[in-house]
Amino acid sequence: MNISVLVSGGGTNLQSIIDRIRNGHLAGVHISLVIASNAEAYAIKRAESAGVPVRVIARKDFSTREEYDSQMLSALVDVKTELVVLAGFLSLLGPSVIRQFSERIINIHPALIPSFCGPGMYGIRPHQAALERGVKVSGATVHFVNEHYDEGPIILQKAIDIMPDDTPETLQKRIMVECEQELLPQAIRLIADRRVQITNNIVTLLADPITAGKETL
Ligand code: GRF
Repeated sequence: MNISVLVSGGGTNLQSIIDRIRNGHLAGVHISLVIASNAEAYAIKRAESAGVPVRVIARKDFSTREEYDSQMLSALVDVKTELVVLAGFLSLLGPSVIRQFSERIINIHPALIPSFCGPGMYGIRPHQAALERGVKVSGATVHFVNEHYDEGPIILQKAIDIMPDDTPETLQKRIMVECEQELLPQAIRLIADRRVQITNNIVTLLADPITAGKETL
């Protein structure tokens, strides 16, 4: 399965995908292209070190939304993208891209949707909001992207306990390492194995045909 990974920042999620392709957990998955929303993203260096092609497609370089969307769309189509992975991507994808890749775009969000999500909830903010609200668990969510911000079908979620001495920064770090970097490759594996079914905005995960039924042996 050809994936394109869209990034804006440090690229730790991208790295977790690269590492799992290398160690065989994502066998059959190929990163065709990394698209960065800005030329300064450290994720670009990670892609280059892994020998993955990179393009910078920045919204500010296009005078209209339509031109930006059409550039993005042709970049994805040119490399025969089968799944678009938003891994800390901070630009908005336009409706033409979302329509063309319907049910084939996933995003990782650093909170348990529907909490602490929606416009403006990126970077450190979901973690600040979680601590301000006093929730006792937080975590990450991988979901499909549709035209409504953070409202697409949820594929996977993982929660961790909030510690009494957590700061937004410590919480962000733990969620990145313990949740995001586990969940995003897992979701890609499930999709590559065609184990994700969507009905009425709800995801059902189908049993692994290899392990299914083994417990009866
Ligand atoms: C992650 O917390 C991700 O969930 C969020 O932005 C951060 C990106 O981290 N949307 P990285 O660029 O993968 O290191």
